[in-house]
Amino acid sequence: MKNFDTVSWVENSLQIVAQTKLPVEFNYLKINDFDVACDAIKRLEVRGAPAIGIAGAFTLYLGTRDFNGDLVGFKKHFLQVAKVLGETRPTAVNLFWAIERIGKIVENFSGEIEQLKKIILGEAQKILQEDKEICRNIGKNGQVLLKNGMTVLTHCNAGGLATADYGTALGVIFSAIENGKKISVFADETRPLLQGSRLTAWELTQRKIDTTLICDGMAAFCMAQGKIDAVIVGADRIASNGDTANKIGTYSLAVNCQKHKIPFYVAAPLSTFDFSIKNGKQIPIEERDKNEIILISDKQIAPKEVNIYNPAFDVTPNDLISAIITERQVFYNPFNDLSNFILGEKK
Ligand code: MRU
Repeated sequence: MKNFDTVSWVENSLQIVAQTKLPVEFNYLKINDFDVACDAIKRLEVRGAPAIGIAGAFTLYLGTRDFNGDLVGFKKHFLQVAKVLGETRPTAVNLFWAIERIGKIVENFSGEIEQLKKIILGEAQKILQEDKEICRNIGKNGQVLLKNGMTVLTHCNAGGLATADYGTALGVIFSAIENGKKISVFADETRPLLQGSRLTAWELTQRKIDTTLICDGMAAFCMAQGKIDAVIVGADRIASNGDTANKIGTYSLAVNCQKHKIPFYVAAPLSTFDFSIKNGKQIPIEERDKNEIILISDKQIAPKEVNIYNPAFDVTPNDLISAIITERQVFYNPFNDLSNFILGEKK
């Protein structure tokens, strides 16, 4: 299989896999400029909550490395840069987690600006490295839920392309296979931007995993036919009560799982939890351009005059989620253990 670095720091630049070109072309983009980096995040050249957090951390460095002035001015400039970056993708909380993590360092710093710039870059590198280990641990913790011979359905892309490496939902599948289990995968194509067909089907077939691609609307029928044993998805933001925002279409899958008595799992790092909000109603949902629905690869497929509603994410209520798999542990529904965990963290 092809080895790739989804996000990396190469020759003083942010390097990302150009995800809008996949699966037809595999290329890297090298980015040297803050505005270009923000645009790449907005256009989904780099996407998936953890990868957005990592790319965002490097983007903070790009936005501050040329600053000339005193420390007070630097701190003000950092806040402006962070604000612009935060507006690129409002739902994926990992972006705000990374901004806050680096923001705290900047806020508490007293010393030479050039040293602070190096610290920001070093912290971005740390976030990148940590994510690799986190994904492996999510895989290890989650794979016990999958039995030999299972067929698992996934939605969007929560694989190596959405993280530093390996993935969250796909990481669980990879880990089960590495543990000797035979696992087949059904991938939803994931309209409107087709992360399932373009990215997940690409990652899985690169790894020679038995993969069947279906249109989103086929999932319920596949469940009714007994073709699906479990569903695993990633997450963009998980509220304190376990309500989970993920790619639009995830909620319908969870409802269909309940109807067909199929376990519905969410796999995500702890950085995807937003303990500042009580429930999913407080999660901001990104709305994207109408042309993402009117066009497919520049080909018009709907009348331009039609009304379009294009929310990029939906929220799955916690009662529909069987378990949330993290790098620390698996939290099982009804998520009392999740509240205990949060209380424990606060102590
Ligand atoms: O719009 P995207 O492609 O960034 O949406 C990605 C998803 O919804 C993923 O499922 C989620 O970020 C988890 S990635 C490990």
